[in-house]
Amino acid sequence: MATTVRIENIADYEGQQVAIQGWLYASTRKGKLMFLRLRDGTGIVQGVAFRPEVGDELFETLKRLGQESSLIVTGTVRQNERAPGVPGGYEVAVEAVEVLQDVADYPITPKEHGVEFLMDNRHLWLRSSLQWAVMRVRTTVKRAIIDFLDNEGFLNIDTPIITPSAAEGTSTLFEVDYFEEKAYLAQTGQLYNEANIMAFGKVYCFGPTFRAEKSKTRRHLAEFWMVEPEMAFFDLDDLMDFEERFISYIVQTTLAKRQPELALLERDLTALEKVVPPFSRISYDEALGRIAAIREATDDPELKELLKIEWGDDFGSPHETELTKQFEKPVFVYGYPTQVKAFYMEPWPGRPEVCKSVDLLAPEGYGEIIGGSERMSDPEVLIAAINRHELPLEHYSWYVDLRRYGSVPHSGFGLGLERTVVWICGLDHIRQTSPFPRTLNRMNP
Ligand code: 4AD
Ligand code: MG
Repeated sequence: MATTVRIENIADYEGQQVAIQGWLYASTRKGKLMFLRLRDGTGIVQGVAFRPEVGDELFETLKRLGQESSLIVTGTVRQNERAPGVPGGYEVAVEAVEVLQDVADYPITPKEHGVEFLMDNRHLWLRSSLQWAVMRVRTTVKRAIIDFLDNEGFLNIDTPIITPSAAEGTSTLFEVDYFEEKAYLAQTGQLYNEANIMAFGKVYCFGPTFRAEKSKTRRHLAEFWMVEPEMAFFDLDDLMDFEERFISYIVQTTLAKRQPELALLERDLTALEKVVPPFSRISYDEALGRIAAIREATDDPELKELLKIEWGDDFGSPHETELTKQFEKPVFVYGYPTQVKAFYMEPWPGRPEVCKSVDLLAPEGYGEIIGGSERMSDPEVLIAAINRHELPLEHYSWYVDLRRYGSVPHSGFGLGLERTVVWICGLDHIRQTSPFPRTLNRMNP
């Protein structure tokens, strides 16, 4: 019996007889040669069947086999620099094939399909090499996040998904009927993280997050994954130092571990190689000035209109896109107007209309991947903010308690997993970064 191997490790088996359990991704024939593109979930490898060697019967079977037929291929691994595949460079000289299921009429063919058709068939589309590559990158990004935080001494403490109150504004809440009481799917675990750091120092939660985003954009999902680190005795500068190391580690680790996948996605790797500390830090005021200059300089009337902004307004996608085109690395924008940010952010000393917030915007036009801040540490200031935002104080009394019993300066942030993956992969739409995305107009399949 030949050893069953994974295609990602194929180079370790040169000259050996192996078995590959997988699916037929594509096939082409040249006279007495059949080239099979085989995938097994870990990679794609070329199988070569030579009629005089495999015999007429098997050769005829292979000719007939449809895309996505499931099979076990036995053969000998040989090096061939030109053999396509992921990782590529090796092929399997086919000796025997066991067909588990012969498939006809697989819906996704190599021809162009519309994106709605592909999304309807997301359960199958995931097998296509580009989608597959994105998910492989995603798992590596996730692992890098966890490894980094664990190595930095963080405790991973889970936060609830069913919550009685809003933390990130009341306009994007998904309501749940909680035994006849109104509840909401969590927009963030942050408020609970703040309780947890007073017990554990440095914590993070990492899980699904929900926002009823009623607009169709390339950047918004209704359900996305967010990692939220929170740190006691941490101010805004500490936060930026930390985020910079965190993001650089994630990008460099993914770059090292997912070269074949990023190559398949035709990602410009030099852009990712540049993601090392330090990152530029500019204030909201400076960002506004830069946007005004871009607006001034453009001849495009549509862009001019899109870039209209006044002090106190939040940035929209066009602002972030144009601003980040000016940078080769992610850029910090700190000190946003208090009125556009959540209620819990520490006011800027001597400038209450500004808060100690910082967003990290990814370069190449990608925009916000992190939102974070120093948190209010004074109970009276916090109560005033809760009232100003017209939030029900009774639901936040426990949160105010954290400022009554051993309050310390503290900070934290949330990194959107899909926003990070869309940037690292160089994609143009966030829906491809989630295996089964939930958006305004879709929760199927
Ligand atoms: O800026 P946001 O809303 O910040 C918070 O929720 C804070 N409570 C986090 C914290 O300080 N602990 O969201 C943080 C990040 C964004 O920068 C973005 O990457 C991602 O979450 N995000 C979304 N990703 C996809 N779809 C959406 N609808 C998103 N909304 C936010
Ligand atoms: Mg934000």
